[in-house]
This record gives sequence, C-alpha cells and structure tokens, in this order.
Amino acid sequence: VTEDGSFVGFAIVDRRSPLAAAILWMAVRADHRHQGPGTRLLDHVLQVLSAEGVEVVEAKTLDGSADYEPFVATRAFWERRGFVQVNAVDSLPGWRPGNPAAIYICALRPTR
Ligand SMILES: CC(C)(COP(=O)(O)OP(=O)(O)OC[C@H]1O[C@@H](n2cnc3c(N)ncnc32)[C@H](O)[C@@H]1OP(=O)(O)O)[C@@H](O)C(=O)NCCC(=O)NCCS
Repeated sequence: VTEDGSFVGFAIVDRRSPLAAAILWMAVRADHRHQGPGTRLLDHVLQVLSAEGVEVVEAKTLDGSADYEPFVATRAFWERRGFVQVNAVDSLPGWRPGNPAAIYICALRPTR
C-alpha cells in the first residue's frame, strides 16, 4: 500500500485452495500506524479475495498466552475487523518454541 507515492505497508497472501486463503504477513511502517493504512490494506485484500470466490481467510499472530504487550494491539486489530480466534498452538512448524500462535479465521460474504 502506498500513500502520497511512498510505500507504507504490505500484505502477503497465500491462496490455499479456491475457497481459502491465508494472510501470511502484514505490516505497516511504524510511523504510519494508527492512521488507517492497515485497515485500508486489509479491506482491499478481503475485497479482492471475496471477488475471486474465497470464503475463509486465516491470519496468525502471537497468542495472548505469550504475555507480550506489543501484540495486544495486533490481536485487537484482527478481532475488530471480523477475525475470530479458533485455536492457540505452541509451536507451529517453523515457529520457534515459546512463541504460541493465535489462529484467526474470517468468513467472507461471497460477492460473485
Ligand atoms: C497491525 C498493523 C498492520 C495495523 O496497521 P495500522 O495501519 O496501524 O492499522 P489502522 O491504522 O488501520 O488501524 C489501527 C487503529 O488505528 C485506528 N485508526 C484508523 N484511522 C485512524 C485515524 N485517522 N486516526 C486515529 N486512529 C485511527 C483504527 O481505528 C484502529 O484502531 P482500532 O483497532 O481500535 O479500531 C500495524 O499495527 C503493524 O504493522 N503492526 C506491526 C506488525 C504486525 O503486528 N503485523 C501483524 C502480524 S500478524
């Protein structure tokens, strides 16, 4: 996502199947956070996926049991935008032990 011609954030999306996708990573430059680019980027991603027929989207972040303050806001970001935590896993393959993953899913309304 860009604003005034400069790069402020990105999202990496993996299509898992015709009906399912995962947001593997999403971040906004620290000096642009809490001004809306994350919401605009996520809205765009979900709109594109929905138009392509995707019905469920997964996102993973650090679970609350890790008791690490910076991710309280990250989980709130997903939850306020319709993502529901369905599991906590320690450890996911590829994640270092001691970094419990919060697994979120969001159901999209089909637009086709
Ligand atoms: C999580 C992240 C991508 C969100 O991006 P962001 O651009 O800060 O998100 P937004 O600005 O759209 O929304 C954040 C908050 O700012 C608020 N906000 C949006 N526009 C605003 C404005 N103009 N003025 C003040 N606040 C505003 C939103 O309401 C939102 O608050 P809410 O969740 O209480 O509703 C970003 O914080 C980030 O990169 N974090 C570090 C990396 C990370 O954790 N990535 C996710 C890994 S799973």
